[in-house]
Amino acid sequence: MKALIPAAGLGTRFLPATKCTPKELLPVLDKPVIQYVVEEALEPEGVDGVVIINSHEKPQIESYFSVDHAFETMLRERGKKEEAARVHAASTLPVSFVYQDEARGLGHAVLQGADEIDGEPFFVLLGDYFVPGRQMCVRMAEVSKAHGGASVIAVAPVPEDQVSRYGIIAGECVGCLPGTNAEGEQEGAVWKVTGLVEKPKPEEAPSHLFIVGRYLLSPRIMELLATQGPGAGNEIQLTDAMERLLAEEEMYALVVDPTEGCDTGTPAAWAATNARMALDDPSQVDAFLEALGERGERFVG
Ligand code: G1P
Repeated sequence: MKALIPAAGLGTRFLPATKCTPKELLPVLDKPVIQYVVEEALEPEGVDGVVIINSHEKPQIESYFSVDHAFETMLRERGKKEEAARVHAASTLPVSFVYQDEARGLGHAVLQGADEIDGEPFFVLLGDYFVPGRQMCVRMAEVSKAHGGASVIAVAPVPEDQVSRYGIIAGECVGCLPGTNAEGEQEGAVWKVTGLVEKPKPEEAPSHLFIVGRYLLSPRIMELLATQGPGAGNEIQLTDAMERLLAEEEMYALVVDPTEGCDTGTPAAWAATNARMALDDPSQVDAFLEALGERGERFVG
């Protein structure tokens, strides 16, 4: 199975930094954000290939995942073997590229990967969020398998005043992941989806469960996206095509804990993710707290 990672956005929330650096290449510690997302998809028993849907304005992303022998040789000649190995490792990941020429929305971005999925179900991982080491794709595939190969989306509870930022599901809890007793909005609960609405007004939201940006989709969605008109924000919305898919096929939602993932979608969230990753990394935590000085003591206290 393949995973598609849309990465053609303008990164306007991070301007001016993203004038010259794609937001996907902003670092979390010493690795670009998108590498964490790629590695999440490639976790054991996850997908076997990743397709990045890029824009021609951001060739740096493809360069990052391509081998650069001259650069690696230069590093090795300077005694930086370990650094050269880490640089090389990124170029060995099974990543390929397709290009979206116009920013016409998430649905339009996903459609650009239609020829890459070999008519099989596929994952979509949105790039401003990653869930390290929690086998997100495997858990979603388990739910799909238990329901005859149906599409599955990851959802999480959101406060009512924030529903208009997200895609929201309608449905009912029908079970849980094996090994959990979860119900309702608890992590591990499984819902049968009966409706989807992109960025609803709070009074129109059918639930408080939002789509967190992880999808396992039936290939039929590509045919629906090909005829999907613009929706919220005048963009071709993946959520709208999924609503049409629901008329033909079953769809399930797995409730996840939103705090298990790392958000990098805004400068504040990105900074918090850097702090969290530094605190969780034994090779970084001491230097991080020392660099923070007194502020660090307040921070961890
Ligand atoms: C997209 C999806 C939305 C989802 C959100 C998660 O919205 O359209 O359904 O809830 O990602 O981050 P965007 O953030 O691109 O506006």
